[in-house]
Amino acid sequence: MAEFQTLLADPAVVFTPGPHGFAMARVVLDEAELLTIATDPDHQAQGHATTLLAQLHQALQARTVSHIFLEVAATNLPAQALYRKLGYQQAGRRPNYYRTSTGQTVDALLLRAALTAG
Ligand SMILES: CC(C)(COP(=O)(O)OP(=O)(O)OC[C@H]1O[C@@H](n2cnc3c(N)ncnc32)[C@H](O)[C@@H]1OP(=O)(O)O)[C@@H](O)C(=O)NCCC(=O)NCCS
Repeated sequence: MAEFQTLLADPAVVFTPGPHGFAMARVVLDEAELLTIATDPDHQAQGHATTLLAQLHQALQARTVSHIFLEVAATNLPAQALYRKLGYQQAGRRPNYYRTSTGQTVDALLLRAALTAG
């Protein structure tokens, strides 16, 4: 919780709240990193994250950010589907980047999208 409050107080962090979730990115010059996006499990698959991510993109464009990147677990298919729907493409892969609670390792995919005005 303290870490979350520190992020919210950071002027480089853009926070997009929604009724059932939120998205958060950190801006460095003209690039942003998606730190997290989440929808309440009771309200998933209803379009909330799509709306949140589009709103986050708009807020980043207003700060003249031209690209956004993120890391996502290779096993997180719902999140990957969300990102690809909003124009993200794979830019790299980090083998064995995550470790699960059962000790298994999972690759991270590095995804990137251009933010174009419109
Ligand atoms: C990933 C997450 C944010 C998606 O939120 P959501 O509100 O359910 O997403 P949306 O309803 O906007 O769906 C967006 C797209 O994701 C895909 N998707 C959503 N739920 C899915 C599911 N259960 N299985 C497969 N694809 C799914 C679909 O392609 C969907 O687009 P479509 O409805 O046009 O087909 C949500 O699953 C979540 O909070 N997961 C836990 C946190 C997490 O993994 N965050 C990402 C870390 S990198």
